[in-house]
Amino acid sequence: MRFTRTKGLRGEVTIPGDKSISHRSVMFGSIASSTTEIHHYLQGADCLSTISCFRKMGIHIENKGDTVLVHGNGLKGLKRPDTILDCGNSGTTTRLICGILAAQDFDAVLTGDDSIKKRPMKRIIEPLTLMGARIQSVGDNHRAPLQITGSHLHGIHYTSKVASAQVKSAILLAGLYADGETRVTEPYVSRNHSEILLRHFGADVYTEDTTAVIRPASRLEGQKIKVPGDISSAAYFICAGLMVPDSEIMIRNVGINPTRDGILKVAKAMGADLTLLNEQSGSGEPVADILVRSSSLRGTVIEGPMIPTLIDELPMIAAMACAADGETVIRDASELKVKESNRLEVMVRCLSSMGADVTETEDGMIIRGGKPLRGAVIDSRLDHRIAMTFAVAGLCADGETQILGAECVNISYPEFYKDLAKLTQAPGIL
Ligand code: S3P
Repeated sequence: MRFTRTKGLRGEVTIPGDKSISHRSVMFGSIASSTTEIHHYLQGADCLSTISCFRKMGIHIENKGDTVLVHGNGLKGLKRPDTILDCGNSGTTTRLICGILAAQDFDAVLTGDDSIKKRPMKRIIEPLTLMGARIQSVGDNHRAPLQITGSHLHGIHYTSKVASAQVKSAILLAGLYADGETRVTEPYVSRNHSEILLRHFGADVYTEDTTAVIRPASRLEGQKIKVPGDISSAAYFICAGLMVPDSEIMIRNVGINPTRDGILKVAKAMGADLTLLNEQSGSGEPVADILVRSSSLRGTVIEGPMIPTLIDELPMIAAMACAADGETVIRDASELKVKESNRLEVMVRCLSSMGADVTETEDGMIIRGGKPLRGAVIDSRLDHRIAMTFAVAGLCADGETQILGAECVNISYPEFYKDLAKLTQAPGIL
């Protein structure tokens, strides 16, 4: 895909379903005792991997496009899969399923693509093992493939070194099956979709400050769920609207859960003209429309408890900081190194190749904004967030930007280029 400078993004876009909530709705629906009806399910490759894994474990799932019906079979109603469970590119599928499989009456093997096989799994193997789980890394390297043998689990109080919703959720899911209360304390609060959704399904789960607590369950009830639009996908339009001159975009149906809305706070701190409209709450998850207008931006500092609330948006925010006046400092973001790619290294290299003034630090980066960007060839490394970030950066750069492996947006936003093109009046996307 090729992109060139444009101006005047206009119109509206309805954001596809939240990836984190879509995964969880199928997982919790599969172990509930009745049917779960999911609307606005994200049809991205990651969420299809989750459906495929639960089908392999005997769950009848009807995917009718926007609506998905999951005919749950109860907490212990999964069947031993005949084949390896392939989680594709999805860290959420891999890590959360481990929490469920740890307590079943069978063994199973989980694997994924080359990126998944490089991602750290010790972070879930360690706490689940403390609960009594038997999880073996087949290559003995704390990476997938993972062999999981169902076991009797105990409640624990685990203090995690990383603020990770995937770690927290794997432990909470195992906690549904444990013989006592399970607590997870994180350094900062990570996204809380599991806690909200599990409570809807009838689980006894609550939070105290940075600790999530769950008690064993005897049954979960199927639910009707309307998945909000994914703020991580909305991020590309938010930043495009702010960066491209003479733009005004209405972004519809965006989840604005406070554990996910860091991008809105950072954009405001940078001087963004954005307005929330039609705020509502559905299934405990707040949603709103966001009106964005081109703005002159200034640098900011992003660190500490803010980081988990915008972790997936940091590549886009870093690119936006190149268009801001002054310095933007990102700290406490080492987790970027273990995403679908090493997003710290990739961002610094690709932004530099476009002429930006960026320095990588131990746990983040420093961006000195104001230098005009010029087009470049960007290797996405098949990381969907890198591809979408540089599509937007390409709309603000002199010359042509070419994205290699652009089709990887299929992971979280299959219609991304089409939706972006609808807003573009001048060429923009070639
Ligand atoms: C996710 C949590 C985050 C995020 C990922 C989705 C989730 O990962 O980066 O895209 O659905 O729980 P970590 O929990 O590893 O931070």
